[in-house]
This record gives sequence, structure tokens and C-alpha cells, in this order.
Amino acid sequence: MNIYLDNAATTPLDPEVFEAMKPFLIENFGNPSSTHAHGRKVRSAIESSRKKAAELLNCTPGEIIFTSGGTEADNTLIMSTVHTYGIKHVISSPIEHHAVLHTIENLEKAGVIENHHVLLDPDGHVDLGHLEKLLKQYPGALVSLMHANNELGNILDLNTVGEMCKQANAFFHSDTVQTVGHYRHNMKELFVCGMTAAAHKFHGPKGIGFMYIRKDKKINPFVHGGAQERNMRGGTENVYGIVGLVKALEIAYREMDEHEKYISGLKSRMIEKLKADVPGVSFHGDSANLKRSLYTVLNVSLPESEENDMILFNLDLQGISASGGSACSSGATTGSHVLGALYPGSKRGAVRFSFSKYNKPEEIDFVVEKLAELVNSKVSS
Ligand SMILES: Cc1ncc(COP(=O)(O)O)c(C=O)c1O
Repeated sequence: MNIYLDNAATTPLDPEVFEAMKPFLIENFGNPSSTHAHGRKVRSAIESSRKKAAELLNCTPGEIIFTSGGTEADNTLIMSTVHTYGIKHVISSPIEHHAVLHTIENLEKAGVIENHHVLLDPDGHVDLGHLEKLLKQYPGALVSLMHANNELGNILDLNTVGEMCKQANAFFHSDTVQTVGHYRHNMKELFVCGMTAAAHKFHGPKGIGFMYIRKDKKINPFVHGGAQERNMRGGTENVYGIVGLVKALEIAYREMDEHEKYISGLKSRMIEKLKADVPGVSFHGDSANLKRSLYTVLNVSLPESEENDMILFNLDLQGISASGGSACSSGATTGSHVLGALYPGSKRGAVRFSFSKYNKPEEIDFVVEKLAELVNSKVSS
């Protein structure tokens, strides 16, 4: 058995995406900044990709800037917004991805900003009442709150938070790396100043992503160099990556309703089977709530035991790839700052299963069966 349930870490490339990329790896090799025919050909591929991405997100092509992935996009939006607008206060949460958390920590260490963490409710959702208070206390702050948490799947209501930020004249950055390609963002309706995407989370290639920057919230570049990306990000463009990214986004949009239904079905199947077969199982965050969590992510909480601490290792031995990390760091797993923030001191086992269009119901059944065996072997011994 070889089962891949770690699609929040990365997804397999769609063969249709690979076909679209191929000509840009071999025959169409020009540098897009060159003005001759070889250059013009690839320049036009970049610009038509940008136009297509903008159409899908309902924004203008000038608002899409290609980057090397989610990490660079998050770094750019945070660093450049703070520097361009002289921002002194950032409002974020302790369960942001490290691409956001560490960037903010660095700015704070350098004495550039003060960071204020918003309170979370027991399920890991942002306490909107507390956010309101912080917005009043620090007008004009940069707010950085992720759309879907990569470990829990918890979803933030972007419309509501966007409106709150608009009223408070705050800059709203949202790390949307886990939702672009799985959720339709309508940038004309959302008040988001900057958001981020990584192609490898929706069956595109690794090492390519983009940031959306609202046209009335322009920022200075973070990566300095040539005039590429409308002077917003220096460096020769990753042309085959850009073509692959946008092809993957097109496929994702084309098939989104069908896939959402199918993948939600896999997630519900796993929840029900786990509840029936694994004693003491529960779910971290709001992961099992299909209305308030991303359909691709399920974070399972297992009773405390030495075996459950080694659960990822044991699943791997059975040919099952998943990920996790409990609140406390020990054994074969490294600690998770997300679970650590929500469940301080908890020694329960944690496994994040994340699904894609390529997973099959039989795989879910097999994984639950193995997980039940691993957990029950401890209970009966
Ligand atoms: C929520 C979130 N933000 C940012 C990133 C970083 O993206 P990349 O791997 O493209 O740098 C990831 C990837 O794990 C993620 O899940």
C-alpha cells in the first residue's frame, strides 16, 4: 500500500499541468525581458497567464505578482506593507504559518513593530470581539490572519474580517495558501489588501506562487533587482512555473464544485469511521465541522500513549503518508506551535490527514482500519 494523505503539505502535479509546462522547459526558453522574438513569446505567455489568473479571482492583472511561492509572498506583503506605510502595530494570531509568524517576529525583534495577538476561542477561531478591540486600540495597523489554518483546517470569515479592517482603516493581509485553488475568492467583493498562493497546494508545480496586491494599497518591492513583475519583484521569471500555476488554477476552478463535493465526502467518511472504530478519538480545532473548516484537512486527536506519540512513524511503516505533530514535542514527532497554542501541555497524539481529488474511499477505509489497529493494540495490551 502506498497512500498519500498529506495534500496540505503538497499535492501531486496534474498531468494536464505538466503538458502545459513542457514547451516552456524546452523549446520556449527565451528570457521574457529580451525584446527579440524568443523573449516576446515567453513574455506573452506570462502576461496571458496573469490575465487568466486575474479573471479567475475577479481582479485586474496588475494586482497579480508572481513569486517563488507562498513564503516569499507572505514575507513580501508583511515586510513591504510595514516599510512602505511606516506601520508600527501588527495584529495577528499565534497559529499563523511560520512564513507569517517568523516574519512578524523578526520585525518585532528589530524594534520596527509591536505585535498583538488576537485571542482565539476554544476551537481555534479568531475572537472577533477581541479583534474589534485591537483594531480600535491600534488604528491603521497591519492585520495578518490566515484564511484556512494549514494544520486544523479552521476557516476565517474573510468578508467579516475584511469589513472590520476597512472600517478601522487597517491593512488586511491574509495567508490564503491553503484556500487558493480550493475556494473561489472574489476580490471585487472582499476587502483584502494582500493575499498569497502557492501552486503546489493545488496540483501545480513547486517553487511558484503569487501575491494579490490591491491596486489602491501599493507597496514597495521586497526582492530588489530588475524591472520584472511591473517593478514589484526583481529576478528572471519562472516561466514554466507561471504557466503551470495558472493551468493548475484553471483546472481547479473548472472542477471545483465537483471536487469539493467529492473531497468533503472523503473527509466525512473518515470522521464517521474514526468515531465508530477508534476509542477516545476526537478532532483538533474545528476540523470536524464541515461548515467552518476546509474540506481538504482533518486533524485527528488520539488518546495519550507512547504508541500514539509514534503514530506517524507507525503509519509510515504501513505505507501511509500523513503529517502532524502534537502540542508537546517528543518521540518521532516535533511539536506543533498551532496545537501548542490551543492545547498547552496536551500529550494527545495528533495526525493531520489532508485529501485531494486523487484519493479514493478505499484508501480512507484502509487508513482508518490501520489507525484503529494501532490505537487498539495499545488499549488491549
Ligand atoms: C498556510 C501556509 N502558508 C504558507 C505556506 C508556504 O508556502 P510555500 O511552501 O509555497 O513557500 C504554506 C505551505 O506549507 C502554508 O500551508
